[in-house]
Amino acid sequence: MSGIFAEPAPKFAADRLRAVLREHWALPDVELGPLDSERDLNVLVDGRYVLKISNPAESAEVVDMETRALEHVRTADPGLPVPATIGAVVRTTDDAGRECLTRLITLLPGQPLEGGPLDADLAAQVGAIASRVSVALQGFFHPAAGRSLLWDIRRMPEVVASSGIGMAELVDRVRPALAATAMLPSGIQHADVTLTNVLAADGVVTGVIDFGDMQHTARVVDLAATLTSVLRRSDDLWRLTEAVLRGYQRQQLLSTAEVAVLGELVIARLLTTLAVSAMRRGAHADNLRYITQYDSTSSRVLELLGALPPDDLADRLSRLAGTRDLTNAIAPTSLPARRAEAMGGPLSPLFYRQPLELVRGEGPWLFARDNTRYLDAYNNVAVIGHAHPTVTRAVGQQLASLNTHSRYLHAGIVDLAERILATMPAPLDTILFTTSGTEANELAWRLATEYTGATAAVIAEHAYHGASKWLADLSSNEWPAGYRPAHVATFAAPRGDGLTETVGAQRISLADRALRAAGERPALVLADSQFTSEGILDVPGDFVVGLVNGAHAAGALYLADEVQSGYGRSGPQLWRFLLAGVPPDLVTLGKPMGAGYPIGAVVTRREIADVLASRYEYFSTFAATPAAAAAGHAVLDVLTLTDLPAQAVEMGELLRNGLRDLASQQPLLGEVRGTGLLAGVDVASREAAKALVSELVNHGVLAGTTGPRGDVLKVRPPLVWEKRHVTLFLDRLRRALDAAT
Ligand SMILES: Cc1ncc(COP(=O)(O)O)c(C=O)c1O
Repeated sequence: MSGIFAEPAPKFAADRLRAVLREHWALPDVELGPLDSERDLNVLVDGRYVLKISNPAESAEVVDMETRALEHVRTADPGLPVPATIGAVVRTTDDAGRECLTRLITLLPGQPLEGGPLDADLAAQVGAIASRVSVALQGFFHPAAGRSLLWDIRRMPEVVASSGIGMAELVDRVRPALAATAMLPSGIQHADVTLTNVLAADGVVTGVIDFGDMQHTARVVDLAATLTSVLRRSDDLWRLTEAVLRGYQRQQLLSTAEVAVLGELVIARLLTTLAVSAMRRGAHADNLRYITQYDSTSSRVLELLGALPPDDLADRLSRLAGTRDLTNAIAPTSLPARRAEAMGGPLSPLFYRQPLELVRGEGPWLFARDNTRYLDAYNNVAVIGHAHPTVTRAVGQQLASLNTHSRYLHAGIVDLAERILATMPAPLDTILFTTSGTEANELAWRLATEYTGATAAVIAEHAYHGASKWLADLSSNEWPAGYRPAHVATFAAPRGDGLTETVGAQRISLADRALRAAGERPALVLADSQFTSEGILDVPGDFVVGLVNGAHAAGALYLADEVQSGYGRSGPQLWRFLLAGVPPDLVTLGKPMGAGYPIGAVVTRREIADVLASRYEYFSTFAATPAAAAAGHAVLDVLTLTDLPAQAVEMGELLRNGLRDLASQQPLLGEVRGTGLLAGVDVASREAAKALVSELVNHGVLAGTTGPRGDVLKVRPPLVWEKRHVTLFLDRLRRALDAAT
């Protein structure tokens, strides 16, 4: 041991201290009191200041770093209480004639937390202030920060070896974690935000002192020092760990890699504590109480943590920090059987002959556990691409600050309401948020029945509108053989030619007549604007106008279900119903609306909402939350600022032209339909369509099937597809067809 750790702390008789204060700070007749220090001399002055006399071996550069760091923190984060330096650093001579750098700093209110009661709330405050100091120091630089201290846990193996405390097994165990810190976020850290250096009064943290251990290191090393100090206080390891992490992460989030090593770094810090204590015990008998004060508690925590294998320790910390990766943390063995056993078996079937376990998404790509990459030609929820950082950031940030229900005012949700309404034609002026497409259609149903006083509905043959009991009844595609709810009539979906306005109106009129014959009256006519489950049909605008007119003639409202076809898929406009040129009475939105965060909506006229409001209130706990608003805004921001709906038009054309080319050469493929980035291709049979989709998986492409007979290949990718994705898809489809025939 050498330097500041070998050199005894400064010694000053009281009258000499008074002389120093008089001479350099013009403080006469002061009252002096003792303060603890490991290697310096700290003196309480008049209950207002601390006279800090550095160890004679301390370099001027290091003291300069400390004073500048305090200045930096006070400027960077003025609300963060750290001492202020009064005047300049001066040189004094102690009783033994050794020259010491001497400073006067302000005394912060409160008492060190060390030794006092510590609950989870205080522990969280300690985590928070450690984090805040680390953040405040982010922009600070000083050449002295490169120094190496005994307390630097990266030196722990060497320090432990020369201390003679043994512990070789534990030392070896933490070596990989110490090495891993080399690529973790680093900077100049306080490195000793421990209970000794955190002050509190009446259960509230009042400041951080003692920047004397500052050095450049990983921020998680800094956190490890703080966590170690808290854990020494109680057997309640996990409650206090959760609290420290909670407080810390409210200020800044830790990465998965940081949390993965944190437990090992705590062990390293404990080893350092025991080693330094053992080394200094003999040399500084005068300061024995201070030096050995943590020995027994350190040994106890070391025993508890050391008993956990590194993986277990890391797993616990990742659960408490929220960085646990479900994919890697949970054994993937027998997933299909376990899923079937626990989750209803045939009630919720999986896609594909060989079910896929996906673990990651990125833009138009999906990745399986074995890292096979698939081009996503199916998922429209990820409208702006999978795992888009703008959405994850926006939602995460909102969840991190506030997420409540819709019975409080929130600017984000009001703004989203207005933003969506601005994309709708008059007289659609009212939006009600929901959590899904199903819920949106349910609410539309309540609005329609209250408004019209009627209780029946008209849907297309082979329609799909949702999963609740009532929406399952309004989803003819889902009806079991022979099932037909009495108050639901169907109309023939728009296939083939001659789809005029008159034909549209006639189809509704026919359905209306069937209902009336059964003593029912329709409240609502609803149709997916792209007739997706019906086989992806190219419905002309005139036909839709006929549907709307037919609905009104029957006394019903018309609902454009844009849950699947909305959000720019048809392009360049956001909503497909706009192509018909006549406003529906109700529009429902969902799926892509939050890019995976559950949010849906009904858009209607105020007059319709008012009728429901005359007898009911509408409230849905998770609808219109601040986090939902964040997701909704993020999707619209990326979608509109990058003009994806226009890209969808271009890519859709390219895709369908390529598909038609292919169909002209491949007897298995027939008609190609779709608007925007959506394509339905007739396949020779249901079996052939299924086989083709499975073969596509083998060729790295995920597509689906749809249509009344399940014989339509459905291509409905995220709107981020560019030309090379279209080309890749067509190439893989060609190969899959070759393999299938
Ligand atoms: C046209 C249409 N409407 C409604 C729904 C129901 O939406 P959700 O599954 O979000 O409840 C769907 C879902 O596939 C849909 O395609």
